[in-house]
Amino acid sequence: TVCVLAYSGGLDTSCMLGWLIDRGYEVHAVYVDLGQPGEDRQVMKDKATKIGAKSVRMIDAREELCRDFAFPVLMWQAKYEGPYLLGTSIARPLISKKILEIAEEVGAEVYVHGATGKGNDQCRFQLAAEALRPDIKVYAPWRTPEWRESFPGRIEMLDYCKERGIPVKATTSKPYSSDENVLHISYEAGELEKLDVCGVDLVDFEMTVSPEEAPEKPEEVTISFEAGVPTKVNGQACSALDIVEQLNQIGGRNGVGRIDIIENRFVGMKSRGVYEAPGMTLLYEAAAHIEQLTLDRDLVHLRDSLAPVVAEMVYYGFWYAAKFEALLAFIRQSHQVVTGEVKLRLYKGNVTVLERSSPNSLYDEGIATMEAGGTYNQDDAEGFIRIQGLPYRVQGMLRKFGK
Ligand code: ARG
Ligand code: SIN
Repeated sequence: TVCVLAYSGGLDTSCMLGWLIDRGYEVHAVYVDLGQPGEDRQVMKDKATKIGAKSVRMIDAREELCRDFAFPVLMWQAKYEGPYLLGTSIARPLISKKILEIAEEVGAEVYVHGATGKGNDQCRFQLAAEALRPDIKVYAPWRTPEWRESFPGRIEMLDYCKERGIPVKATTSKPYSSDENVLHISYEAGELEKLDVCGVDLVDFEMTVSPEEAPEKPEEVTISFEAGVPTKVNGQACSALDIVEQLNQIGGRNGVGRIDIIENRFVGMKSRGVYEAPGMTLLYEAAAHIEQLTLDRDLVHLRDSLAPVVAEMVYYGFWYAAKFEALLAFIRQSHQVVTGEVKLRLYKGNVTVLERSSPNSLYDEGIATMEAGGTYNQDDAEGFIRIQGLPYRVQGMLRKFGK
């Protein structure tokens, strides 16, 4: 059987590669680079070849992740259950897309991934496959007793690697599991499952310093947008990836973007997660200020009412759904006017707006002014409110004089 494996270079998927080959699969390993940390890409590639992969592909999709996946979600201001900026959720449909392209090329019948049967990632991988390659079979070894019997834990995986001569990077195992890409790092499981453990004290953060460690002096940053898309940092035009990376540095060194939440997984259980997303946090904040200047009231209220729907779809993994495609078209249209520049001040985890401007600003000082004069006629207001109040007047009369 020919299969493609979502290969991460780590312990689990390295064992999985060997295990599949032991079972007679022809395995094409695909590493989709979204800015994960870890070994040199060439080292990972050589490792997969050494284990016995029929082919190994390293695909750099970092720019696409920021430009085509994260930025549309940013334009929606979509956050899951409050603060989660969806850094892992957004990445999964892109990983699947890239791997399924290779599946087509090598004629694979099976798509193997290393997500467990308990989480969200399996949903996202599998739902993407349903939509993009309805004929492919998805195989998640973690969901089978054979795999779980072979590898009840990390020890057995390490033993297997030793036996099979698979080089393992001497990683000091952390007391939690993490998932990193250019957008964020998530931390969950292990000791974080205990709610009496303080998340921000336990986690060894990699993108951010704590507010306490941040500089005593505030830092200013200017971010520009064109039609809702971030285009410049401090006046310098850069690629989507560059923008996210620069803002990760700037936000990170000022302690911006850490959260600790209990979230509802698609499979039903509540789960505790700690996240850091400094650059994306700054982008959400900055974008909101330009939207406030440029978006029509009723349009932005409609957008805000739909944002949780978008967040839920991204979190669950319905990226390649007709409904989602239509929602993406909506946000591209609504954000045609979201062009402008914001200056923010960062100080020990706080973000304050200093200036905002836009050629499409709808803010009119002459109308808004509370000073005498201006173009707003107060006389108009009485009739406006009287007509708004009509149904309540009728109901009020009934309450007062009711039969
Ligand atoms: N709970 C987050 C989400 O569902 C993070 C998942 C992390 N995934 C992982 N394989 N460690 O988006
Ligand atoms: C996993 O279970 O594979 C990781 C966690 C998740 O997908 O939510």
